[in-house]
Amino acid sequence: MNALLQPHPVLVPMTVGDLASVMVVEHSAYSFPWTRGNFIDSLAAGYLAQMLVHDTAGVVGYYLAMPGVDEIHLLNLTVAPALQRRGHSRTLLDDLERRCRESHVGKIWLEVRASNQRARQLYAQRGFAEVGLRRGYYPAGAARREDAIVMSLALPAEHGHELD
Ligand SMILES: CC(C)(COP(=O)(O)OP(=O)(O)OC[C@H]1O[C@@H](n2cnc3c(N)ncnc32)[C@H](O)[C@@H]1OP(=O)(O)O)[C@@H](O)C(=O)NCCC(=O)NCCS
Repeated sequence: MNALLQPHPVLVPMTVGDLASVMVVEHSAYSFPWTRGNFIDSLAAGYLAQMLVHDTAGVVGYYLAMPGVDEIHLLNLTVAPALQRRGHSRTLLDDLERRCRESHVGKIWLEVRASNQRARQLYAQRGFAEVGLRRGYYPAGAARREDAIVMSLALPAEHGHELD
């Protein structure tokens, strides 16, 4: 099994040309996946979109985030189900946090389904705090809705970061 991930996967920017592979992962990872149009809109808008890819395994995972003035909104973080629980989400979040620090972005926001204990555990472990609730934010099938937990992570200002 470990041979599958030797050598380690690498981070590359996501492009429209990657979307066929990305959509396979997206559909395997979510009951309510993003549409291809959601990805295309995010890429066209210039959102930060990075993928972790492996020579033989292909797309291991990815994230997309919408930059704001001094903060960024993590819109999608996904690891292929067959490759989960191997630390890949940490690699993706490390990359996001590094880019935020380099760009003097002070805060990361995200929403997560209330029932998504794996992701809530991940974000809590990374230092994200639960700061709000959006009632009925997500579709949940058969005309039902599910709450979103709003989480945020404050990134310490680096030397030279000008606060206005
Ligand atoms: C949530 C997700 C991104 C985690 O990715 P991953 O690569 O499997 O996670 P990692 O191996 O990097 O694990 C990091 C931490 O996440 C948490 N975690 C991951 N999988 C978990 C599980 N099955 N149960 C409980 N906690 C889990 C743990 O805190 C873990 O740290 P630990 O291994 O020290 O306990 C992945 O499960 C996924 O893509 N899920 C479907 C899509 C999704 O829900 N995305 C988040 C939307 S907000």
